[in-house]
Amino acid sequence: MTTDDGALVVFTPSGRRGRFAEGTSLLDAARSLGVDLDSVCGGRGICGRCQVVPMAGEFAKHGITSSPDHLIAFTEPEERYRVRDGLSADRRLGCHACLSGDLVIDVPPESQLHRQVVRKEADAHPIEVDPVARLHYVEVRQPDMADPSGDLQRLREALGEQWSLDELRVDPIVLPTLQRALRDGDWTVTVTVHDSDSITGVRPGFHDVALGVAFDVGSTTVAGHLCDLHTGEVLASAGAMNPQIRFGEDLMSRVSYVMMHPGSDRDLTEAVRGCIDDLVGELCQQAGAQRQDVLELTIVGNPIMHHLVFGLDPTELGGAPFALTTDEALRVPARDLGLHVAPGARVYALPLIAGHVGADTAGVILSEAPHDQETVNLIVDVGTNAEIVLGNRERLLAASSPTGPAFEGAQISGGQRAAPGAIERVRIDRETLEPRYTVIGDERWSSEPGDTRDTVDVDAPVPTGICGSGIIELVAELYLAGVITADGVIDGSLAARTSRVVPEGRTFAYVIREAGPRLVLTQNDVRQIQLAKGALYAGCRLLMDHYGVDTVDRIRLAGAFGAHIDPTYAMVLGLVPDCDLANVTSAGNAAGTGARIALLNRAARTEIEDVVRRVEKIETAVEPRFQEHFVGAMGIPHATDPFPRLAAVVTLPERPAAEGAAAGRRKRRERSTT
Ligand code: FES
Repeated sequence: MTTDDGALVVFTPSGRRGRFAEGTSLLDAARSLGVDLDSVCGGRGICGRCQVVPMAGEFAKHGITSSPDHLIAFTEPEERYRVRDGLSADRRLGCHACLSGDLVIDVPPESQLHRQVVRKEADAHPIEVDPVARLHYVEVRQPDMADPSGDLQRLREALGEQWSLDELRVDPIVLPTLQRALRDGDWTVTVTVHDSDSITGVRPGFHDVALGVAFDVGSTTVAGHLCDLHTGEVLASAGAMNPQIRFGEDLMSRVSYVMMHPGSDRDLTEAVRGCIDDLVGELCQQAGAQRQDVLELTIVGNPIMHHLVFGLDPTELGGAPFALTTDEALRVPARDLGLHVAPGARVYALPLIAGHVGADTAGVILSEAPHDQETVNLIVDVGTNAEIVLGNRERLLAASSPTGPAFEGAQISGGQRAAPGAIERVRIDRETLEPRYTVIGDERWSSEPGDTRDTVDVDAPVPTGICGSGIIELVAELYLAGVITADGVIDGSLAARTSRVVPEGRTFAYVIREAGPRLVLTQNDVRQIQLAKGALYAGCRLLMDHYGVDTVDRIRLAGAFGAHIDPTYAMVLGLVPDCDLANVTSAGNAAGTGARIALLNRAARTEIEDVVRRVEKIETAVEPRFQEHFVGAMGIPHATDPFPRLAAVVTLPERPAAEGAAAGRRKRRERSTT
């Protein structure tokens, strides 16, 4: 019931309410109550972003009898929008629907200015969409001989009057096309405003497409996600091999190349920028989008990749003390990187943490948000280097540990990258010691009926090698089956029991597959895995020492490796400290997700810049305790550290008595998280 004080309006889901004079538009009512209602056209009935649903019925909770009839009749702009773009019968345009009585108005998620995007990862917070780049449609006053003024001056005036955007700076790239845009648009233009303070683009007329790309630049692959900056939706994803591989397989060999060929850093920079630009093209093609609609890009990557993308010489990162040119977040025009996107588009790179711990780790932190949690989280991102983050809202520590490439299948005799044909899952029969396995691209186990992979002429995928997660499972299963001892020795005495254990020089090997191709796990392979996992575990323990905890509440395994690895086997092998297995999970591509969060939410940039400043950097290379931890961590799962939570769910082989005694003697410090 309308009173003299006006009509009562309640907006849901926010619950904000207020009284307004009849004839007030819902957009104005929403704005005055601080309700999140979107608009690009400024209330002209063009963009359709302000759609709302007037509710019908008795709302006792709000004391309102609401009816769609408590709005004025359908207006002509709404009718036009309905015919042109489709407006469902139950909806109105908030900018044109005016009050004539009490109402409950629902603001659907797509009309909310700060809508939320649900993330795929379980238990992840949704991302609030509030991008740095926004579009604003304006009508600009025409020039007048009687009142001379420049086009830019009148554009600024229009932005101030129509959007309350005052004193905006202007990117000089806008000026050469400004006059043409205003005249082509018949004195209406859509302006891109960055960070509420700079005009970075002007397009004639009304234009409603705003896109961004989040990049994760890895030394092996570069991956990009094209996102709609309005909805937050991922429109396309694509990846490519990093073309810098021709200068060196791994990071250090690329830095060595730059050291040996002065000035060649420019070639590496050009190669990676070309790859990023090609991916932008591919993503746009996939989504049927235009490059000039890409207004914003974000980048995460390790320090060397980061430096090369931004044209910074990575030489200093090739050796101690691993000095970064800068660890601050970077904001540069995309055109400075040679990217063919909107002329005024910007690139934002997340901050770096230390010489070995890059913007990719900052992305992981942003995605996993350990700084928001009570529980002590251990997050490991395994690559050639493992980046490790430990902590919670009290403290956050980070380090990198030199795991080497063994987890990626390199330096392993039958190892290969995770690609179709690679063995990824392995089981060893505890009695017969026979292996069963699956390969990427074929989910059948090798011993299932109908499987033909033990013959040469097959149509099912033949294993071509064994990838990182396969090696972890193989070594862990062989340990559980008693083929590999706790010291990591392939037990040659078993050669009498199985033809799978064969002599190889002065040591023994385990034959996974006899022929086509022959795949074996050698003693040296086991050593490589021990070295890699020892480094990872030692890095984790070192951070735990610094934090003052003996156990962690939760372990998250980030990156592609983390997504494929089975947490049980990771723990059986002792890659990570003992933890309740239910709390050891994959974080997916957390670095890439961090780049996407920074793309879609501007507050996330300030957040990660603040958090990174507070991160305590631990340099593993200069810590004497690292070596001590590393030696113990060569044992499987560990020479001395107990794994009681693991032992509760997995039957571990008996430890040699001496080691058990040593474990008992080891003084455990009390966990302290307060
Ligand atoms: S604000 Fe654009 S249509 Fe209503």
